Amino acid sequence: MDRYAVIGHPIGHSKSPVIHSAFAAATGQRLSYEAIEAPLEAGQFAATVERFRSEGGRGVNVTLPFKPEACAYATHLAESARCAGAANALKFEGDRCLAENFDGSGLVRDLSHNLGQRLAGRTVLLLGAGGASRGAILPLLRTQAGLLLVVNRNAAKAQALVAEFIAQGASANTLAACGYDEIGSQRFDLVLNATSASLSAEGLPLPARAFKPDGLAYDMVYGKGLTPFLRQAQQAGVHQLADGVGMLVEQAAEAFAWWRGVRPDTAEVIHRLSLPLI
Ligand code: ATR
Repeated sequence: MDRYAVIGHPIGHSKSPVIHSAFAAATGQRLSYEAIEAPLEAGQFAATVERFRSEGGRGVNVTLPFKPEACAYATHLAESARCAGAANALKFEGDRCLAENFDGSGLVRDLSHNLGQRLAGRTVLLLGAGGASRGAILPLLRTQAGLLLVVNRNAAKAQALVAEFIAQGASANTLAACGYDEIGSQRFDLVLNATSASLSAEGLPLPARAFKPDGLAYDMVYGKGLTPFLRQAQQAGVHQLADGVGMLVEQAAEAFAWWRGVRPDTAEVIHRLSLPLI
């Protein structure tokens, strides 16, 4: 049986084994999928991957904190991994190790296919300038969004991030960056929280006027219920609220299709893993 795994630290909370086992059952693919905790010490991620490969492993998902190390380990980077500076899926082909990052494409697929968002021409506010934002920028630009504004507490970090994409050809008319106090009176169709603030139950210094009531507020975290960010959106009158469960399942489906050549249906798994936003 072909072996796959997710590698992270910690890893006990990972939903990936459940998701991939459901995909395998639904598509009739014979495979096993396990969770492996790699030690945090330098070099231990690579050693863990090497061991899994030597035992016949065909591919792995990679989660925190090893996504940048997965990029460094791989021999061939897809554009998604190169732009994000991080990989969340590896595929082993002989001596080659191919790297992809499906987080951004999983987000866009969730927005467009599951949440019914037409992205072309819309205004998008992306909060945060860490790894999660970095991985989302290129897939969001590819949707032909009208404006993608990246906002960060440390504004210089957001500006540096955006400058990287503009240097690679993104249009400064579409992609911009600033601090929270510089958002002004602009309102956004989609407000996406890619900060880690929800993990520590912190709110964001975001003006209520940035939200459109008929827009969407999306928190990329999963399983945290109505986060302070989502509550801020709700109080600003936003009706459509979502957490990152769809993104989680869609990035898994992208990896599954990449490994196995079969795209699993995601609706049933998303439904099963969804937790109420209360
Ligand atoms: P990740 O790789 O998960 O994105 P990260 O690189 O540590 O994690 O980035 C975390 C992001 O969340 C950063 O943009 C951080 O803002 P700063 O760069 O200004 O530190 C943002 N963040 C975390 N806690 C926050 C909070 N309470 N308010 C606003 N932004 C926050």
